Order: sequence, then C-alpha cells, then structure tokens
Amino acid sequence: MIRINENYTKLKASYLFADIARRVGAYVAAHPERPVIRLGIGDVTEPLPPACVEAMQAATAEMARRETFRGYGPEQGYPFLREAVAEHDYAARGCRIEPDEIFISDGAKCDCGNIQEIFATDIRLAIPDPVYPVYIDTNVMAGRTGPERDGRYEGVAYLESTPANGYVPEVPSAPADLVYLCFPNNPTGAGATRARLAAWVEYARRNRAVLLFDSAYEAYIRDPEIPHSIYEIEGARDVAIEFRSFSKTAGFTGTRCAYAVVPKTLVAWDRAGEAHPLHALWNRRHTTKFNGVAYPIQRAAAAVFTPAGRQQTRALTDFYLGTARLIREAMAGLGLQCVGGENAPYIWVNAGRDSWEFFDLLLNRAQVVVTPGAGFGRCGEGHVRISAFNSRENVAAALDRIAAAIA
Ligand code: MLT
Repeated sequence: MIRINENYTKLKASYLFADIARRVGAYVAAHPERPVIRLGIGDVTEPLPPACVEAMQAATAEMARRETFRGYGPEQGYPFLREAVAEHDYAARGCRIEPDEIFISDGAKCDCGNIQEIFATDIRLAIPDPVYPVYIDTNVMAGRTGPERDGRYEGVAYLESTPANGYVPEVPSAPADLVYLCFPNNPTGAGATRARLAAWVEYARRNRAVLLFDSAYEAYIRDPEIPHSIYEIEGARDVAIEFRSFSKTAGFTGTRCAYAVVPKTLVAWDRAGEAHPLHALWNRRHTTKFNGVAYPIQRAAAAVFTPAGRQQTRALTDFYLGTARLIREAMAGLGLQCVGGENAPYIWVNAGRDSWEFFDLLLNRAQVVVTPGAGFGRCGEGHVRISAFNSRENVAAALDRIAAAIA
C-alpha cells in the first residue's frame, strides 16, 4: 500500500498566498462588477527594464541560429552571470565571494525551500515570527517539527519580531543549529543594522550554527547604515548562506531568476563530528535536481549589472518605494500605526483588530486585497501587510477606497 508523507498533514490546508488567491477568486466570481485592487502578494506590475528585454531578445535570436544555439547550460549558471553577481553584488561592497560560490536558480522561494534538504532532520530550528511561510512549511514537510498547536509547530524556536525589538529578533539564549533571517524583512519591512547582524554572526559562530539569510529585497535599501549582504559582516563566510533574487530587483517574478551563495569555507558536521563543506553538498543537490535557468533569462539577468540596467533597476525600485511612501502616509493619516516601506516594498500596518477580519473588511468594503498578518505567524496577528507593487493609479484608488471603508 502506497503511503503519504504524513508530515504534510501537519500543514495548514493551503499555502498562504494560494489561500488568499482562492478567497479573492471567490469574491471576484460573486461580484464581477466590483474590480479588485491587489496589494497582497508581492508581485511586481511594472514591465521589465529595457536593458533586460534587449538582452533577452538578443539571446533568443542566438537560440534561433545553429551556430549560436545552446542546449543544457551549466546547472550552477553561466559564468557570465556568476561573475557579474560576484563583482557587482559582492566585490563592490567589499565582500569576498567567488563566482563559483554562486548558484543561479529559478527563484529564491525554491532555494529557501530546498536548502533544508542538506541538513539533518533532527537539528534545532530557529525561525522568525512573523515569517515568510516557505521557511517553516518546508521544514514541516521534511519532518523537522511536531504538530501545530495554536499557530506554532512543536520543536521550533520562534524568534519574535515585535515593536519592542524593532522587528529584528534578538539572538536567543538557547542554541539553535539552523537560523532563518530575512532583511529587509518580509513581511514587516524592517531593516537590520550592522550591529544586529554581527550579533547573529557571532551567535552562529559560537553555536556552530548556520544562518540562512534571505536578502531578496536588498535593492530597496536606501539607508547607508543597513547592510545589503550578510557577508558585509566579518566572519559571515563561515556561517551563512545567502539568497537573492532578480524578482523584486528587476521585475523578474514571472521571468524567474535568482541565486544562492554557499561559501566554500562554510561547513556542517556529521554524527561522528567530521566537518563537511556545504558547498559540495549543495552542488550535489543542485546538479542532481536542477538543470539550470534558460540562457535568455540569464542574459536578461546579467543585463541588470550593465550601466543602463543599473540605472533602470534603480528607477524601478525608486518607483515602488515612492508608492510605499504614499501608502505609509495614507495609513498614518487614518491613524493606523505602521512600519516598513522605507527600505522595503512592504508596509506592516497595525490594524488594531483581528487580521483576517480586517482582510475581509477591506476585500468586501473596499475591494482591496492585502495580506493578513496572522498568515505569517502568531506575532502577525492584529496586522496586515500592504505591498507597494502596483501602479500609482491603482494604489491611489485603493487608498481612497480604504479610507472610505474604515471611516
Ligand atoms: C510575498 O508576497 O511574500 C512574495 O511575493 C512571495 C514570494 O516571493 O514568493
């Protein structure tokens, strides 16, 4: 008799954004005359930067000619892209990351979800609350947790992000082996200073732990005091894996390109206490289960680092940050406390009531979709996340509608 992976039965019935999409779909089907504005899932709306489109078109033309056609590429990504990432995202910030420590992939979501495969199942996990649900759900699937009770899985140390700690969790007194961190943060939009990140690197070194650092939103950082990469912190090469994405940097949510950095100096231990480089393990996993990102897409991603691409992607992130400012101002004008939106495209709003109730109210009365904070964890209760990814026109209309709905 074939049996299921019963860890899946511990999960909530559906993934947060799939659940929201289902609820919104049902509303739209019932009220086709009421157009909905989506400020829920962080999905970009502006077109790709022209430099990326031109590079993609040129690469597509190469694929149409026998002399320049390419079949399978290197699973880890083409050297031209790995070298561009190493130079512009790391060397330019004083970080020592080699091109062959960069693994190109089709998404930071996939990388964040897949990375746990290279670690033992009986390790101690520390996961923020609120949190991007992929970190926790993939560990539940892998059997690293007990059942869920009151919105929390047994066996997980939750790192609470609250107004008291500026939404940047303190290092815990208890040791953990695998720690997930995300800055600028999804969902709160909080940034972590160098000192706060240095405390985490020191914690990881002291406890022989690994930090999984998701910096998918680093392109939104404008404050010079906020590091863009964990590798800006001394010693992080020995304790951290970093995830980055072109999705929010250059509008690639539908185009799909990202990367993980696994330094060759980073090790984890087997039961007998022997150290193993994680680079070799991830390389083994990646080459076994992944066949590389499409050549035209990697060319488009590399164009992000050209002078034109840099200028265009900066304009793109400036645009969304301008929208984020409008949302913050509008929420403050309505008397709702909020954080984020300054070095991140998300605004974390204290709704002062149950977060799903507020979600329903905004959907039903304003036809605006936001993300209920409770979907990100217990500490998200009472909040909603508003995404700045939409056109100015739609956001302005959404803000007017929200104001009317809660007046
Ligand atoms: C989000 O809304 O949190 C993100 O868009 C989800 C993702 O990047 O997968």
